[in-house]
Order: sequence, then structure tokens, then C-alpha cells
Amino acid sequence: MLTLAATGVLALGGVRPYVCVRLMLNPRLETLSDYPFRRLERLLAPIEPPPGRMPLDLSIGQPMHPLPALLAETLHAHAHLWGRYPPVAGTPAFREAVCAWLARRYHLPAGMLDPARHVLPVAGTKEALFLIAQAVVPERKAGRQPAVLMPNPFYNVYLGGALFAGAEPVLLPVSAATGYLPALERLEPALLERTAAFYLCSPANPQGRAAERAYLQRLLGVARQYGFLLIVDECYSELYNDEAPPGALEAALAEDGRLDNLVVCNSLSKRSSAAGLRSGFVAGDAGVIAGFTRLRSYAAAVQPLPVLAAATALWQDEDHVVANRRLYREKFDLADQQLAGRFGYYRPDGGFFLWLEVGDGEAAAARLWAEAALKVLPGGYLGRPDAAGENPGQSAIRVALVHDLATTAAALAGLAAGLS
Ligand SMILES: Cc1ncc(COP(=O)(O)O)c(C=O)c1O
Repeated sequence: MLTLAATGVLALGGVRPYVCVRLMLNPRLETLSDYPFRRLERLLAPIEPPPGRMPLDLSIGQPMHPLPALLAETLHAHAHLWGRYPPVAGTPAFREAVCAWLARRYHLPAGMLDPARHVLPVAGTKEALFLIAQAVVPERKAGRQPAVLMPNPFYNVYLGGALFAGAEPVLLPVSAATGYLPALERLEPALLERTAAFYLCSPANPQGRAAERAYLQRLLGVARQYGFLLIVDECYSELYNDEAPPGALEAALAEDGRLDNLVVCNSLSKRSSAAGLRSGFVAGDAGVIAGFTRLRSYAAAVQPLPVLAAATALWQDEDHVVANRRLYREKFDLADQQLAGRFGYYRPDGGFFLWLEVGDGEAAAARLWAEAALKVLPGGYLGRPDAAGENPGQSAIRVALVHDLATTAAALAGLAAGLS
């Protein structure tokens, strides 16, 4: 073995001297700040919850409803396929099932989505949302550093994806006053010209508000006018009350039926409570899907064939989703009773989070832990301060209603009392 000696002389195997040159990590790793849950751990670590109270975690959006039987059955029936390498583009059956589901859900005409060109399986949307920025952010756009736009507060992965791609993340403040959506009329042409991608979450994590079709149409129009990709994260789309929230593909249909400049992401993590399956998809612009497939053939976990088979069966089945929705609805009925008229409470258009205005989210989270053994997430941890130091999430807390009905009832009572 040869090593490079300090003098620049080569020393032979095991014979010193040689210098050990410190390896360098990618400095962009430093831009990935602590995940919100790590910050919450630090906030609560010095605080003891009250003795005799069972701590309850309402901070993480971890679905806990029963898994559909179809999942284990289909995995079992396809167990002989674990030994096979799966193709990066998944199976035709998976892609067809996703296109058929999208067409049913969003009333799309036959042929608008081509299973061969418009859809790709991903190992959950988290990795896809991060990685897609690496596929679509160029070195320069309009002669400048590209920008990636996203709402503030936001799902942390959007920011990580943008930073790691070398883009400038531009955080667009949202609040009750903006309907929890970025105000499109405030976007300057100079910014839009260098925008490479725009993340939108609808229904949104954390606020549960869904964008109207007209808003999505307008945003898609802007994306096309300025040549950037609109990435719509729709992973909460199936957990709604009575009315299914509109989707971005409907906006594309209303516009001209084309998929240019648009991808939507969805997964089975919330719809089928199957977060551990790590199964989702990205669908939309054929050129983006082709580029993303190319990147993924180097860089991403390919979905195993038994997982793809289970996912195919789950996208084809709606009964378990109806049952799942009913369980959430019952919990939001309880939340209506406990919280209506207080803390800016509203029933979300989609998802399983409550977004409550409590004045100081961090102080409220600390108090709920100290007095009621309830762990909730300060809204500010999902946002970032703007230039004036204002974090649009700091006055709120996010509460995940993922437990069973009885546990949720007790939690809501504790929450209402603890916040009073
Ligand atoms: C807004 C949002 N997008 C995407 C994800 C990722 O979900 P998954 O990777 O399980 O599909 C989550 C998970 O909590 C989320 O809240």
C-alpha cells in the first residue's frame, strides 16, 4: 500500500511518516438545520411532565390508524419477488393504477396521463421532494443564482432540497390573512425570472388549508410564463371532511390539459396509513419525469416489487380510504366541540393537523408538556424568521390528531384546559 508522506515522499505500506489529511464534507450539509423534532426535544428536555400523567405525543404526523388488510395480504402474495432487482420506473401495473386513480380522483379525461411517460414510483414523497430539486435546479437561471420558492411555514424537506441543489430558498410568508397560501401578486418578475421551482403543499402541512383550483391555475400559469417547475405536494389530499380538495392536475386540465411545468406528489403514508411502506409517486411533466428517472437510476432507492404490488392494490382500493377518513372525521368532530371559537380554531380542509393560534407557540408547547404531559410542535419550528426577524409560525402550535378516538378525546380536553 502506498501513502503520501508529509514531505511529499511516498512511504511504503505501514511505514511512517505520512500525514493524515482531514477529509472534507460537502459544506452544503451545514445548511441543513436541525429537524423541528430535534429542536422540540431540546425545548422539552429540561422540563418534567407532571407525575402520574401518561405523556402523549401529538407533535409528529405519524398515522396510527389500523393498516388495511390488503397491504399485508398483497405483500405476502408477492413474497417470491423479494429476490429480484426492481426497475427504477416501477411496474406497468403500478403506473397504470396510479394514472387510473388520478383520473378517477380528479376527473381527468382518458389519455391525459400516459402511464409510460407521466408517472414514477418513489420511496415515499419525502425523498422525492428533496431529490427533485437536484434534478431541476440549474447552475444559473437568468444569469443569476436560481431561486426555489416555498411557503413559510413549510415542510422542512423543501428547504433542504433547495439548499442542497445550490438554489436560494425564497420563503413566502403565509398566514390567516393570506388564506395560508403564498400571495402570488407580490412576486416580483425579477425573482420569477430566476425561479427554478416552487413548492406548494395542498392541503397544507401545517395549516390544513387547500388551494382552490383557480389559485392552482394561476400559479401554473406563472410557472409556465417564467419557465419553472411547480411541485405540488398533495400527500394529505385524501384526508378531508366532506369535500375532496381540488388537485393541481385539475388545474392543468382546466388550463389546457397539458402537464408542462407541473408535477404532483402523493403517497400511501397518509391515505392508507402506511408510512412504513415508503411508497409514493411523482406524476406530471414528461420531460421532468424523464430527467428525474435518470437521476433516480443513480441516486435513489428503487421500490421493491412486493412493495409495488401492495401499492398497486392500495391505489386500486377506495374502501379502506373511506374508512380511514371516517376515523379522522370523528376526531375533528370532537375538536369542533372542544375548540370551536378558541385559539383561531378551524376545521382543516385536509390532513390531520390542528393549527392553533396561541400567542407564543414555544411557550405554549412548554406549558402543555409541563402541565398536561402533551407534546405539541411550536409552529415557529416549521418556519423561518424573515428579514425583519418575524417568523410567521411563531404564534401557533401544530397538533397531530393521529391517535385513536378515546386517546384523542382525552388529549383535546387536556389541550383545551392547558391552553386556557
Ligand atoms: C407535507 C408533507 N409532505 C411529504 C411528507 C412525506 O411523506 P412520505 O415520505 O411518507 O410520503 C410529509 C410527511 O409527514 C409531509 O408532511
